[in-house]
Amino acid sequence: MLMRLLSLCATFTALKGAVAFSQETFPASYANYRVPNHAVTPMHLSSLNASEQFTTLEHPRFPNHRVRVKQSDFCDPTVNVYTGYLDVDQGAKHMFFYFFESRRSPEKDDVMMWINGGPGCSSSMGLLMELGPCSIDMSGLSANGTTWNPYGWNEEANIFFLDQPVGVGFSYADFGETVETTEDAAKNIHAFITIFFETFPQFSGRPLHLSGESYGGRYLPVFASEIIDQNQYAQAEGRPTINLVSVLIGNGITDISTLYAGRYEIECGTAALEVPFQSISTCVRMKQALPRCENAMQRACVDTFDAMDCNAAVLFCESELSTGYWASGRNVYDISKMCLGDSLCYLENTAIKNYLDLPSTRTLLGVESPNNFSACSSTVGQSFRAHMDKYAAPTQFYISALLTRGVRVLIYAGTYDWQCNWVANKLWVEKLEWSGQEEFNGRPWRNWNVSAEDGAVGITKSAGLLTFASIWAAGHMVPHDKPVESLAMVSRWLAEKPL
Ligand SMILES: *[C@@H]1O[C@H](CO)[C@@H](O)[C@H](O)[C@H]1NC(C)=O
Ligand SMILES: *[C@@H]1O[C@H](CO)[C@@H](O)[C@H](O)[C@H]1NC(C)=O
Ligand SMILES: *[C@@H]1O[C@H](CO)[C@@H](O)[C@H](O)[C@H]1NC(C)=O
Ligand SMILES: *[C@@H]1O[C@H](CO)[C@@H](O)[C@H](O)[C@H]1NC(C)=O
Repeated sequence: MLMRLLSLCATFTALKGAVAFSQETFPASYANYRVPNHAVTPMHLSSLNASEQFTTLEHPRFPNHRVRVKQSDFCDPTVNVYTGYLDVDQGAKHMFFYFFESRRSPEKDDVMMWINGGPGCSSSMGLLMELGPCSIDMSGLSANGTTWNPYGWNEEANIFFLDQPVGVGFSYADFGETVETTEDAAKNIHAFITIFFETFPQFSGRPLHLSGESYGGRYLPVFASEIIDQNQYAQAEGRPTINLVSVLIGNGITDISTLYAGRYEIECGTAALEVPFQSISTCVRMKQALPRCENAMQRACVDTFDAMDCNAAVLFCESELSTGYWASGRNVYDISKMCLGDSLCYLENTAIKNYLDLPSTRTLLGVESPNNFSACSSTVGQSFRAHMDKYAAPTQFYISALLTRGVRVLIYAGTYDWQCNWVANKLWVEKLEWSGQEEFNGRPWRNWNVSAEDGAVGITKSAGLLTFASIWAAGHMVPHDKPVESLAMVSRWLAEKPL
């Protein structure tokens, strides 16, 4: 989920203070570690005991790292559940995760990571209102605060939900360290995943899928690329590599150049609703502003990146092309609904925060963060915004590079989202420069369905390792709105079957 008060796909506020751009050079953080002579003590997750206590594991290759993990009765009584912290960056950053075994075959099924966007939003939002094994109980009838989700994505995959970067959800830093760009966050993700697989060798070598939504469209291509690049160091040093096989992005923001054209089609065209709701006068004004907005962004954000000029371009685009939508009071994540509850527009948000802040829930999960839960951290959002993280790098080229290196990519989108809308995603996927571009664009779109009886649920197209799929009448949080369709999509994706 994207946070409405932050800039995200939508709003943009002026830069505060100076902008510092970090130029990260190769080799990154862990490349210089050497494998010690003593091996990692192999650890099987099921040897952990369900208690209030964490088991603390040390990791020889990451001498300053600690792993605190415990079995938990949280969320899904049908599988083994683990929660805990993996420490990264000299042990000063503590990254909280929830891990759920697959309901089908934990010893054989693939491993998947899910992250929410923001930047700054907790993955527990995706867990408890989208694709997790349980959902937040909105009826007040459940004794434990959640209800079992038969469409959880752990039906067929071992899945972990990670709160990242530090400062998000239950992840925290000891001395106020922050992560302020996606490229920096990627290093912590790589360390986390490496420690995870090396600590729990039963998953070592298992196919890994990185999934997420929204700002995940910026995060995941960079995270996946960091893993692929670091695999080369691991290989050279004779260490195990991470078997990253695919990336799944739902309603993401990846190539910024198509965002506003997409919003126009959602709001004033028939890409989402059969009859547009927006007033004709607003639509004409938007149509007139669109080329100017696009040209300005192309010049100042894309062709060459100039922080001040890019910021000015985005402010113009927001003012001319987003004001009308905000004024409508509609849910920015679902054009068919009004915005309910807090600024995130869903009643579930407050319920999730209240549930996760309960002392009993924190104990159940083993939360050791000194902070209260926040669904979306404005501190993290603001830091990313100060670096113009969303605009400063052409994230789509990470996708091209991943495709060239054999990583499968699924871009899916619910058609009712306005924020990171499906039209913008379709447009950038068609624009994407990669070896299969001609083949992809030469192919026809086709409908896809869950079952023969229920009819089509969206459109799709694939070429080579790239697939695009839309899910009709779903908002930004596709599994929230269309759980059956989402699980069918993921199930086929994991099995490498066409939709
Ligand atoms: C779990 O409990 C058993 C029996 O009490 C003990 O032998 C074992 O060491 C414990 N496992 C861990 C990881 O602490
Ligand atoms: C919580 O209660 C619901 C019934 O209200 C049940 O279906 C679910 O399995 C329970 N969850 C856990 C983790 O025990
Ligand atoms: C957490 O929330 C409680 C209750 O609202 C408040 O008293 C406390 O100060 C908060 N703690 C932090 C660290 O913000
Ligand atoms: C989708 O519908 C078509 C035509 O009705 C049918 O042949 C196909 O089996 C359906 N696909 C699935 C997965 O049920």
